[in-house]
Amino acid sequence: MPDDTLFSEVLDPRNRADPYPIYKKLREVPVSRQRDGAYVVSTHAAIRALLFDPRLSSEDLPPSRRPRTGNPLRDWILNPIKNRIATSHRPLIFRDPPDHDTLREFVMKEFTIHRVNGLHGRVGSLVDDLIERCRGRDEVCLVEDLSYPLPVAVICDLLGVPEKDEPQFQKWATQLATALEPDARHDEASRHATVAAFDEISSYMRKLIRRKRRHPADDMLSGLAKPGREGNPSMGDIDLISTAILLLVAGHETTVNLITNGMLTLLRHPDELKKLKADPERAPRLIEELLRYEPPVHFRTRKALGDIKIEGTTIPKGAPVILLFAAGGRDPARFSNPNRFFPDREDNQHFGFGGGLHYCVGAPLARIEAEVALVALCRRLVEPELMADPPPYRSGASLRGPESLGIRISGINR
Ligand code: HEM
Repeated sequence: MPDDTLFSEVLDPRNRADPYPIYKKLREVPVSRQRDGAYVVSTHAAIRALLFDPRLSSEDLPPSRRPRTGNPLRDWILNPIKNRIATSHRPLIFRDPPDHDTLREFVMKEFTIHRVNGLHGRVGSLVDDLIERCRGRDEVCLVEDLSYPLPVAVICDLLGVPEKDEPQFQKWATQLATALEPDARHDEASRHATVAAFDEISSYMRKLIRRKRRHPADDMLSGLAKPGREGNPSMGDIDLISTAILLLVAGHETTVNLITNGMLTLLRHPDELKKLKADPERAPRLIEELLRYEPPVHFRTRKALGDIKIEGTTIPKGAPVILLFAAGGRDPARFSNPNRFFPDREDNQHFGFGGGLHYCVGAPLARIEAEVALVALCRRLVEPELMADPPPYRSGASLRGPESLGIRISGINR
């Protein structure tokens, strides 16, 4: 029987560089109750079963585990972002059917394959430009130089946010991503900064939506803001704002992590780097293997709407349930040699983009960004070498990725 505090070890930043041995211990009991009453689900089969189970809710999120002070106003300030999200601005990732499905349908109508494929060329030129800016240097910080700026620029392009506002968007995205961690371990000043970022981006979006209604362009926000026709209503303003913010937050740090984890993994497996350089067609399968082996999203939380019996355990109604996707990806009962990075793997059914009704809407876009970036990095960086292994990690346990990734190079190919 594993220890009922193992999940707190997952949250501990000291284990960020290698959480996989803890996941192995957790898998000994597929659904394990933690001392705080949360249930951690860690095998591939159990995660899969629960991802498709309507008795798990994304809407009625469990209360924060931050100790309450007894002063309601102070408690609200201690966990402001969650409260705001839970009331007026709750985006579709935190909603259940039928509201979730209605909102998702609006997004899917605009997030077409045609629109996403149309971004391919733009992603390519952004990547080339970002790599070119490193010319003349013998060190590259992958996060700062490429992984971080790329996804924001792409989301701004997709939504139709003017290029001049991108730096501001980058700041908002960084601040808001901290609110996605279950137990944000940052100080009060940072929590206030999150509220401020949320208010600022909301008011910016409100104005931008108004402009898009007056002067529609061929972008996603103009499409979403289009007035509805009879029998075909449009999205309300609040939902529109929260959807735009969600696309920014959900599509930013995740993509940063995929590109950074990808390059880190390739530098740790130089043979795979060489093979990708020689044959860029290997990229799609390599990206799928990355999403299994080093996924950007390690877990997501749900709440049980009723008693759920699974793998010999009953999750009681109201309990928080943590779906530990990254542990499922290393489950030896599902994948042979799960701790081996093996891009030629067949039947690679990972949870990198989740599954079921909340399956990532940005998956095709994220795949394009990661493919273009990794192929270009392998081709253009001459003799790349990791400067520190493991690199320093950001503190987040759910959206897990290196804070920086120093790479020594001896030049840049054209
Ligand atoms: C490598 C990059 C990405 C990864 C690993 C990733 C991962 C995920 C995962 C695991 C979920 C499921 C959440 C859950 O079950 O609660 C999700 C949902 C979502 N993702 Fe992504 N994502 C990525 C990129 C993007 C991009 C680029 C966008 C948009 C521009 C995006 C937008 C969304 C949205 C809107 C949802 C919520 C869908 C729903 O609730 O129906 N993601 N993503």
